[in-house]
Amino acid sequence: MCGIIGYTGKNNAVPYLLQGLHKLEYRGYDSAGIALIDESGISVIKRKGKVSVLEEAVTEGFSATTGIGHTRWATHGEPSQLNAHPHLSENGMFAVVHNGIIENCDKIKSDLRKDGYSFLSDTDTEVISQLLEKNYKGDPLACLKETAASLEGSFAVAVIHRDFPGTILCAKKSSPLIVARGEEGFFVFSDTLAAQNRISSYYLLSDGELALVTKDKADFFSEDGKPISKVPHYISSSTASSDKGDFPHYMLKEIYEQPKALKDTLSAYIKDGDVIFPNFNPTEKELKAIDRIHLVACGSAYHAALCAKYIFTQLSSLDTSAHIASEFRYEKTVLSKNSLVVIISQSGETADSLAALLLAKAEGAKTLAIVNVKNSAIALKADYVIYTQAGAEISVATTKAYICQLAVLYMLAYFISDKTEYIHSRFFPDILSLPRLAEKELSQNENALSAAELLKNSEHIYFIGRNTDYALSMEGALKMKEISYIHCEAYPAGELKHGTISLIEKGTPVIAVCLREDIFKKTLSAIKEVKARGAYVIAITTDKLKSNLTDCDFVIASGSEQSDIFTPFVGAVPLQLMSYYTALKRGCDIDKPRNLAKSVTVE
Ligand code: M6R
Repeated sequence: MCGIIGYTGKNNAVPYLLQGLHKLEYRGYDSAGIALIDESGISVIKRKGKVSVLEEAVTEGFSATTGIGHTRWATHGEPSQLNAHPHLSENGMFAVVHNGIIENCDKIKSDLRKDGYSFLSDTDTEVISQLLEKNYKGDPLACLKETAASLEGSFAVAVIHRDFPGTILCAKKSSPLIVARGEEGFFVFSDTLAAQNRISSYYLLSDGELALVTKDKADFFSEDGKPISKVPHYISSSTASSDKGDFPHYMLKEIYEQPKALKDTLSAYIKDGDVIFPNFNPTEKELKAIDRIHLVACGSAYHAALCAKYIFTQLSSLDTSAHIASEFRYEKTVLSKNSLVVIISQSGETADSLAALLLAKAEGAKTLAIVNVKNSAIALKADYVIYTQAGAEISVATTKAYICQLAVLYMLAYFISDKTEYIHSRFFPDILSLPRLAEKELSQNENALSAAELLKNSEHIYFIGRNTDYALSMEGALKMKEISYIHCEAYPAGELKHGTISLIEKGTPVIAVCLREDIFKKTLSAIKEVKARGAYVIAITTDKLKSNLTDCDFVIASGSEQSDIFTPFVGAVPLQLMSYYTALKRGCDIDKPRNLAKSVTVE
């Protein structure tokens, strides 16, 4: 949440900062700003709204070669120009951009007020700039070290000082911050996407570390200010493109990238017909000792976990549960060294998921991360990691990362069941057909468009299904509400009659996910119950089952023939397309839905 960019080099900083902010906008987009520094001092330009609004405000005439920028997702204080970053200190000595939350901000603020400092904004960030000014005794790095030590919570900060044009100072705790080298200078940012084609190598700051970056070099320091050397990471030429190409939205592009993303994910781990995870290689004895698996995640990643819970139980008989990460911490789940806690996250920086991981580690459980972003906090902190190979996902609504999480979870379920000889699975060779299944479902585009026409004026939509169809209903409902702003709820089909069915009246839209043959008849009963009360039913099913659904008002049927276990891969695509086209017809901002950000780095 919130994106940071900084540049210091031989060229005008403005284009680098604005381009970087555009790339980081997925992290937050309620306001944006930049601060530029040269011999004449610090200039700050900020605006409420998207980066394009800021861009219009940044007129010609700036030639500073050093600057910092920020795109915000509001935590403290409403989205406004005043609360936008960068924040200047009282006398304009420091300008600060920040990602994270300063938990002791109120205490620091009241202490600073006693010292005569006043505050212009409602943000927690402003306490950092004021505290820097208060602590300053001539050495900006020593001052940042002292200031960072008194901050509680999470922060990635980039700072410039009026008397040191050409220098950017950085500090990090729990929020991501990266320093990178390129031909045109040095960059600091929250995500390498910010300057993807401009950098050759980068350094990941660890918690507590500080950096002093100039146009020629970057120096790193430990929490206590001692110089440290860091190992650079090199940019791989295969990094996926972060451009929209010919697609009108990233979401549609990413939906269409799913067959390739699945292929890349499967081929990374299936070798000669077997599953090999290079970074998850417990011994057979260790695997056999696992007595419980906890799948922990947020949002769509939780829905992947929910679906996988059914698959793990089916394949391995191992006791498996799915948990929402923000709840997991307070559930007092009994964990031991024989528990395997699997944290699933596209970004690898979701604060609730990270906190759940740290809790599991503290309780002695083994931890495995399934993550898309390489070297992200969750990937680095877990005992083991398996990367999904979805490539960069920009749209706030996840599609290809979600489907790749499912693929990794299926491989993991097989891997565990195979190695532990619980129930040897017969389904496995079919897993290689997943990219083809997803590809075929892209031809549901026209059907999804027609369904969207039927749904676009709805106030409420109910999604129903059983077992993995239910997990998919949850994901379908989240996708629809997230981008179209229509209120959606997903229910296990059998649960409707215990209360929710009272909401069904003439014309109420119900999306019935009924892809699984083994439980089809039971879901059909629920469809009949809502039809009898006037519901308008859209069924997501298969060609094989559709003849039983003549009562439904609209049917999207997959022509693929797959075993029940793989139906989530078949149903996900039309549900995503349906949400996309409904949001499009409603004129919503599909890639940047209101109030959201792609990585949620606050608890
Ligand atoms: O980066 P993560 O996978 O940890 O993110 C988890 C959720 O915030 C995320 O899946 C969210 O629900 C998506 N925007 C849904 O499309």
